Amino acid sequence: MPTQDNMNLQDGEKVVLGQGGKETATYEDLKASDESHQMHGFGHPLMQKGPRQLVVFESGDGAVLKDVMGKEYLDAMGGITVAHLGHGRKDLAQVAFEQMSKLEVSSNQRNLTNNNAVKLCERLSGLAAQAFPEMDGSRVYLTAGGGEGIEAAYHLALRYFNKSGPLGTSYGEGYKKQKLISFRNCYHGSTFIPASMKPEFSDYGWKRWMEGHGREVYESPSHRMFSNIDPPHELFMDVSKMKPGENVGQAAARQLEERILQEGPETVAAFVFEPVQGDGGAVDMHRDFFPLAKEICKRHSVLMIADEIMSFAKTGHWFGMELYGVCPDIMVISKGLTCGYLPAGAVIYQNYIWQTAFNNLSSKMMLSDVWQHDYTWSGHPVCSAVALRALDIIDSENLIELCAKRGREFLDILKSELEGLHVVQQVRGTGVMLGVDLISDIATDIEQKVLLEYGIVLRASTNKHCLLLTPPYVMTDEQFKKVAESLRKVLRSFATLAESAISKSRQH
Ligand SMILES: Cc1ncc(COP(=O)(O)O)c(C=O)c1O
Repeated sequence: MPTQDNMNLQDGEKVVLGQGGKETATYEDLKASDESHQMHGFGHPLMQKGPRQLVVFESGDGAVLKDVMGKEYLDAMGGITVAHLGHGRKDLAQVAFEQMSKLEVSSNQRNLTNNNAVKLCERLSGLAAQAFPEMDGSRVYLTAGGGEGIEAAYHLALRYFNKSGPLGTSYGEGYKKQKLISFRNCYHGSTFIPASMKPEFSDYGWKRWMEGHGREVYESPSHRMFSNIDPPHELFMDVSKMKPGENVGQAAARQLEERILQEGPETVAAFVFEPVQGDGGAVDMHRDFFPLAKEICKRHSVLMIADEIMSFAKTGHWFGMELYGVCPDIMVISKGLTCGYLPAGAVIYQNYIWQTAFNNLSSKMMLSDVWQHDYTWSGHPVCSAVALRALDIIDSENLIELCAKRGREFLDILKSELEGLHVVQQVRGTGVMLGVDLISDIATDIEQKVLLEYGIVLRASTNKHCLLLTPPYVMTDEQFKKVAESLRKVLRSFATLAESAISKSRQH
């Protein structure tokens, strides 16, 4: 434990942050400063302007957030789809404090690491093996967040194929196998590779980069690096593409195989997907899809990369793919790993990939054999300590089961309040991932109104017609009823507008 000497604080004295010690920034000060200096994710300058539009949080307790004016909000988004355990847990803060006082950082490069990073990898590999026998002996690469985990998983896939040719698998001509297939309506992050997988993003990523070369180049299989299929869900599948007698799961699986064949199996590295689409609006997949997708991917030597970044520990299982009983080759997790208390993530992958990509090397180490990939914050000792503690809490308090139970209860409440409203197309949920699908592209307006007028935090999907709720397990029924009732009032007030703005963003 640190002494008063190295803390430089007396009992009861508060730490003052920012502005060279300017202690009491008012809401107006903060708003003006925010408007002048900060750029917000998925933001627009107009969202930071105007009377009372910006919300500046200062503290949280359980499912309640408080802003700098003292106003309380019900956090149905769990921070940013991360805070399974709720806000303000002192036990996690204590772990961080103690670890920071002992060792705040160390390198995880080459032959360096720290005790917590090692333990976390063992723990995650064990959890994966508990979920799927194929994950026995799985390897773990630690990250700080989600998108960078997807980048690392992709790099791993490239390396696997680069090394696999001479060692027995059918493809191995350098980096020829490098294309990615993903679902429409996905979200895998905002760095280059994940952004390129989302067809609806046009500002940044591969599509933007290639557009200048003309459509015939951009859309030709010989140049196209990223392509998409419909998610196997009744509201997201283009029914005109279905064949008689097929269900949406079978139709999407057929699309996947056709796409692999169209692109050339020798060029497709991986199929990347969320087991339950998060940002897309809690979209779960038809149960027939993944078993078929697994056969298809195996047939064409395409790796399955499950983006479990949001679904980890939220669906009533540790991993969302347990819903379907299908083990992917690589899983990427983040968000719930520390339950929001610090940034952390991990790439967990089957041992056969490790054996091929790294372990079958000659005894002489070549520079080209080194994993040319590193994140400064990989295996951070404090983040790893907090992750280990969060996993202990989830385990010891049986929160995986509780999450399934609370999710069902939340869903019942949401359905009883919202089903039957004209603007509501569907209310759905898997564990604590809950979605409200609207008939119109008005989700962002709903998100804003429910936030500013009712003090409810939830999230509009980037597809504009869904709302996503990921409430912490600790939110009470009474609190959740208030969330659902407020949402009902706001949705009713939008009935006329909704009618005149039937969804354009729904892509079928
Ligand atoms: C399913 C999924 N994948 C990837 C990401 C990106 O994670 P990060 O923002 O940590 O890069 C997110 C973030 O919301 C996500 O929900």
